[in-house]
Amino acid sequence: MLSSSANDYIQREGPLARTGLLANIGPKGSQASGAEPGIVVASPSTSNPNYLYSWTRDSALVFKTIVDYYISSSHKNVSLRILIDDYAHAQTQLQEVDNPSGNITTGGLGEPKFNIDLTAFEGSWGRPQRDGPALRAITLITYVNWLLDNSNTSHANTLWPTIQLDLDYVANDWNKTGFDLWEEISSSSFWTTASQHRALRQGAALAKNLGKEDLNEKYNIQADNALCFLQSYWNPDASYVTSNTGGGRSGIDANSVLASIHTFDPSAGCDAITFQPCSDKALSNLKVYVDSFRSIYAINQGFAENEAVATGRYPEDVYMGGNPWYLATFAVAEQLYESLSVWEAQGSLQITSISLPFFQQFSSDVQTGDYKSNTETYDKLTSEIRAFADGFIAINSRYTPDNGSLAEQYMKDDGKPTSARDLTWSYASAITAFLAHDGIVASPWGAQGLQIQTDSDGHCIANPGPMSEIVFKVEKDTVYGENVFITGSIGQLGNWDPAHAVKLDPKSYPYWSVEMEVPASISFSYKYIIQDQNSGSITWENDPNHELQSSSEGKSMVVTDTWHN
Ligand code: NOJ
Ligand code: NOJ
Repeated sequence: MLSSSANDYIQREGPLARTGLLANIGPKGSQASGAEPGIVVASPSTSNPNYLYSWTRDSALVFKTIVDYYISSSHKNVSLRILIDDYAHAQTQLQEVDNPSGNITTGGLGEPKFNIDLTAFEGSWGRPQRDGPALRAITLITYVNWLLDNSNTSHANTLWPTIQLDLDYVANDWNKTGFDLWEEISSSSFWTTASQHRALRQGAALAKNLGKEDLNEKYNIQADNALCFLQSYWNPDASYVTSNTGGGRSGIDANSVLASIHTFDPSAGCDAITFQPCSDKALSNLKVYVDSFRSIYAINQGFAENEAVATGRYPEDVYMGGNPWYLATFAVAEQLYESLSVWEAQGSLQITSISLPFFQQFSSDVQTGDYKSNTETYDKLTSEIRAFADGFIAINSRYTPDNGSLAEQYMKDDGKPTSARDLTWSYASAITAFLAHDGIVASPWGAQGLQIQTDSDGHCIANPGPMSEIVFKVEKDTVYGENVFITGSIGQLGNWDPAHAVKLDPKSYPYWSVEMEVPASISFSYKYIIQDQNSGSITWENDPNHELQSSSEGKSMVVTDTWHN
């Protein structure tokens, strides 16, 4: 039943969503008057809320949809091509606009939104938001890859500096905190890290393609590190992703579902380290996420435990009353459709102890294991999951007005559209969910075969990048039982923690020395300390700290220090 209504809705809503999306883009969009060429208006709503601004995130996601459509269509629409070039040009200009987050070199790229005439928005806001440059890079890289495939090297080269600015920002600052995509919590955020990882990985491949080997290496190293960090959001006890490291919430959040669908790479199968839609972790997470909305919205009452319901940003949300969002509910459907596509392509689906509760929704006695296509279990599960996915489309359909317009939210009590009308991102989310429904999968971006290294505790080991060698040497008279150690501002020196300081050898006493590897070409500070073996007491050398710049990759140096008395 629901399945046919999902199909009808997709037929009807698809063209309306495309029209609605284009209407919000300058200069010609009917709802975007005053917007510069290529500028996406988040929504034409000018009060309660006023969304007549251009967000870097919304714009990048919207243009990713346009670029993907343009690339995949056999008949190339010239006006879309112009619009994409307008977008690229406008973003290049926006990078140069000084704003409250900084300027082009001091952090201004992390500014979340601008006025639609390309001037800075000066009001107070949750800034910076570090997903913007990553998402913009992903969209522009996708376009540039297509240009290169079509021998338009010169145009690709003119766009590269814009992309490089964003990638360098991401490579240098990905591990700094910032506001989440909902602009509320300043901490680390799963969506942001996942987007940054993808941007760096795709950026590394493009850099290589353009003959920029040093940048290829730099971006891949930081991609390794972002991927490492991405693992840390997983909550093994409750089997979901804690979407923000701060904020004091459950961490159950559409953040993680959006991350999965926007970093979907069909060639990566059901890999969990990149949180692919069909991975055991992403499916378990999806169930926890959906279930968190069953009891809190009145319109979700009366549905069985395994039926689709309306979902919002996160269960604790109070913004505009805390309601279901179209783009969140579409995202659930999209993750499920993408999973179905991958299972079909690989001819099997796998159930692990982590994903078992997800699958048990559709067959209570199902067991862990590998189920090949055309087995009874596979057929039953996949047809139930498709109906479940269609159910989320049908829920949004039920609350879409006859004219097809998609606001930001609909009321949790009666389903009436609310908050910003004609939200451009809502339209984009409908378009991508509908493509996923039709089995049209995105292009690979480099997630295939990625691996992480773990230590004996199962923690991911970061990639320190190129290393160089240093011999530290200091002259120090000691008494029996005393040992000289070194500690300092880098991990190799224990990050100033005496418990992780490195011991020197007195083989040429009174000279103490140690040879070690540190990251190449970085500046750091350090001190020597004496530890008394018997009492455990520690004596620090006096200020100031020693400062040093390590040598370049593969080189070695010897530093002879004088103990600061
Ligand atoms: C406006 C932001 O756009 C929205 O995401 C947020 O929930 C509210 N401010 C409240 O902080
Ligand atoms: C509020 C949402 O929380 C945020 O993600 C979005 O960028 C803005 N609205 C604009 O649509």
